[in-house]
Amino acid sequence: MPVSLSGRSFLKLLDFTPEEIRYLIRLGHEFKRMKLEGTPHRHLKGKNIVLLFEKTSTRTRCSFEVAGHDLGMGVTYLDPAGSQMGKKESIADTARVLGRMFDGIEYRGYGQEIVEELAEYAGVPVWNGLTTEFHPTQMIADLMTIEEQFPQGARGLKLVFMGDAQNNVANSLMVVCAKLGMHFVACGPAEQMPAADLVETCRAIAAETGGSVTLEEDPMAACKDANVIYTDVWVSMGEPDEVWAERIKHLEKFRVTKEVMAMANPDAIFLHCLPAFHDTNTTTGADIAKRFGVTEMEVEDDVFESKQSKVFDEAENRMHTIKAVMYATLCG
Ligand code: CP
Ligand code: NVA
Repeated sequence: MPVSLSGRSFLKLLDFTPEEIRYLIRLGHEFKRMKLEGTPHRHLKGKNIVLLFEKTSTRTRCSFEVAGHDLGMGVTYLDPAGSQMGKKESIADTARVLGRMFDGIEYRGYGQEIVEELAEYAGVPVWNGLTTEFHPTQMIADLMTIEEQFPQGARGLKLVFMGDAQNNVANSLMVVCAKLGMHFVACGPAEQMPAADLVETCRAIAAETGGSVTLEEDPMAACKDANVIYTDVWVSMGEPDEVWAERIKHLEKFRVTKEVMAMANPDAIFLHCLPAFHDTNTTTGADIAKRFGVTEMEVEDDVFESKQSKVFDEAENRMHTIKAVMYATLCG
């Protein structure tokens, strides 16, 4: 049966089959080809979408905006202070109002239950642009980037996530790797490992797909023969400033360094969802350097800037794959 995601929300990858995930990645490649060739693709002309952001964003917001415009849609952006949701209007009421005006709703913010509730009441597809627990649109871009570098496909590849292995990006990577038959390694301190129930769920999925999920506290052992090394910030949006000291203490050993990369396969790639703290050219980076004497956090600047680093392909692919998600769920 051909895959159809028409009318579906995109809330977390646990809701999608491997075939459906592969279909979205394929569509992402297709939209990239059309964009690069200059082939117009205003397939959703006349539709309107709203982007509801309770946290800041560069890539996700711009991807939804450019993708929406390229597909011929009207796009409305509501910034973290720009809507009544949560303050003067409930999530259910907001969903029912926006669902009367728009054909699709993107939400970035806090608990996964918020985006799930929006989807329950909106009556139109809702897309998760990042919650505390998951970041599913990021995964479609990441897998597309991996396929660009490993044209034989992602199945069987080893991906190591280094650092805060219980955050939204790490959780989503564990799910997508399990779904696609990849070998996922969470490498971090015991304090920052993924929740046991999610690990168990992913292991059960991996048992079906030929993948695996491993937790490893030794970076050198974790990265041996890896195909993809991935990291993310040590403190995520919405976490209090006070956690920096503890995170730096626990996570310094899990920085992606040249030595770590040398353990991986020679053709291994480095990925990061971005934004990244690889130098002190940001206010937070400079502040951390002043307070803790740490000038590179989750990744060394040399790795970030190396040939193995595909982080800007990955960022570009957010746009192509968000186009795929919107097209797949709004077409038909
Ligand atoms: N990777 C990602 O989601 O980036 P933004 O926070 O800039 O959207
Ligand atoms: N874990 C990060 C991802 C940013 C794209 C955060 O939630 O801030």
